[in-house]
Amino acid sequence: MSERDGTAVKGAELHKAYGGVLALDDATFSAAPGEVHALVGENGAGKSTMIKSLAGVIRPDRGRVLIGGEEVRLRSPQDALRRGVATVFQELTLLDRMTVAENLMFGREPRGVGRLIRRRDLPAAAEKVLTEHGVDSVDPGELVENLPLHQQQLVEIVRAVIQQPKVLILDEPTSALARREVEWLFGLVRRLRDEGTCVVFTSHRWSEVTDLADRITVFRNGTDVGTHDELSEEDAVSLMTRREVSTAYSQPEQGPERAVVLQAEDLAAPGLHGVALALHAGEILGIGGLEGQGQQELFHALFGLTPTTGQLEVRGKAKHLRSPRDAIRAGIAFIPQDRKSEGLLLSMAVRENLTLPILGQVAAAGVLRPSTERTTAEGMIEQLHIDARWPGQPVGTLSGGNQQKVLLGRWLLADSQILLLYDVTRGVDVATKQDLYSLIIELAGEGRGILFYSSDTDELAHLCHRVLVLREGQIAQELDGPGIPTEDIIGAAFKEETHA
Ligand SMILES: Nc1ncnc2c1ncn2[C@@H]1O[C@H](COP(=O)(O)OP(=O)(O)OP(=O)(O)O)[C@@H](O)[C@H]1O
Ligand SMILES: [Mg+2]
Repeated sequence: MSERDGTAVKGAELHKAYGGVLALDDATFSAAPGEVHALVGENGAGKSTMIKSLAGVIRPDRGRVLIGGEEVRLRSPQDALRRGVATVFQELTLLDRMTVAENLMFGREPRGVGRLIRRRDLPAAAEKVLTEHGVDSVDPGELVENLPLHQQQLVEIVRAVIQQPKVLILDEPTSALARREVEWLFGLVRRLRDEGTCVVFTSHRWSEVTDLADRITVFRNGTDVGTHDELSEEDAVSLMTRREVSTAYSQPEQGPERAVVLQAEDLAAPGLHGVALALHAGEILGIGGLEGQGQQELFHALFGLTPTTGQLEVRGKAKHLRSPRDAIRAGIAFIPQDRKSEGLLLSMAVRENLTLPILGQVAAAGVLRPSTERTTAEGMIEQLHIDARWPGQPVGTLSGGNQQKVLLGRWLLADSQILLLYDVTRGVDVATKQDLYSLIIELAGEGRGILFYSSDTDELAHLCHRVLVLREGQIAQELDGPGIPTEDIIGAAFKEETHA
């Protein structure tokens, strides 16, 4: 097969340097029409940089980009789109202050007489597009900034698909999606593939890669180290890391202590109805259920982010958390899902992101002195294997997974006794996930109470002493672990529906 027939998109011998960082180092990647091609590798391996080069977002320093076998010089994402390449980027790009309909229908608005845009028809047109693509959970009239992350992700995906691209590139599309939405996406991708579309995607979840991909290309340190039709997880991991990394789950060996560090009675907020729970010192308490059953509301309530009713006790003392500041004072830390809007100052240094936002509170409490800021930050960079060239590197220039680690590290430095971890392994590579699991077990072993939500049911099953499954804002079932069968967690999440 000639190159023209065989490749839908290709980056050949690409180089891209950012200051001293070589993001792409002679990297080649190519994908064919009618295949699903997974691009995998550790955080910082260069996957997104390759994708941005193919999508016209950045211009590589050297090398060639080919679309449909033809060499191109892409000037912008629109340029790439005109040539049939549509991309959903890792960091979402919808316009926050515009509605779903406006974002979705931009450039394809319904028009009336004289080709005037009929604004009034926009929501209906958007609704039609969403429904045609099997998305009924999103209100087209809603502002994007009011949508939860997983719904924004759905809108981004639909927006790319309706361009009817020859090449669809999805950079970590599933990391924010609920299980059912992942199934929806996989159905969509398979259909497009069968129609001849070339689909490229990245994921840090191996089960998704083996489920969906016809071929797999592994990146390491800015370059490709092999393309395979079949690859075991062990082989993939050793290609990615060049190290022996166990993919077996670790489990806490120690049980929780008797002391309760956080107790809620009849806790209620919008989307949350009368929740009672007790978190013990040394306990990893999992929160499960389908996406959007009140998990985020629960975490927000426990961090003083939403007005709540009911009783809350922190280490035996009644508390009313009016703001995150109250929660932090009470020794509670919250690590949220969306690092862009809820956490990091992207233009500031890794070091400052680790220490500054909490410095006021913690310095006052005598926990962390500014003189120790630097060494503390450096210790955390090492402990979490944060891939920063130097502690002064701006966080916005780190790869996605490394940004997530900075967010976690910040709260670990505050020495909070109660950690609310909300989907913290999202977008984190397989080796780093193992680091995080060990770290979480270790933190619990030191007597911290950890509330742990994950969209990855396997993590809940293995890591947690107990799991509370939420349904419609209430605790539907409590399961005892560690080592809960995954089917039990899924079964509890769905029970209501099978009865209905
Ligand atoms: N704008 C930038 N400025 C400086 N360095 C950058 C910039 N963009 C990327 N890098 C660096 O290039 C390397 C590759 O990053 P890239 O985002 O491509 O990784 P990735 O494989 O997509 O990782 P992840 O799985 O975490 O998303 C990283 O070391 C990253 O810090
Ligand atoms: Mg990336």
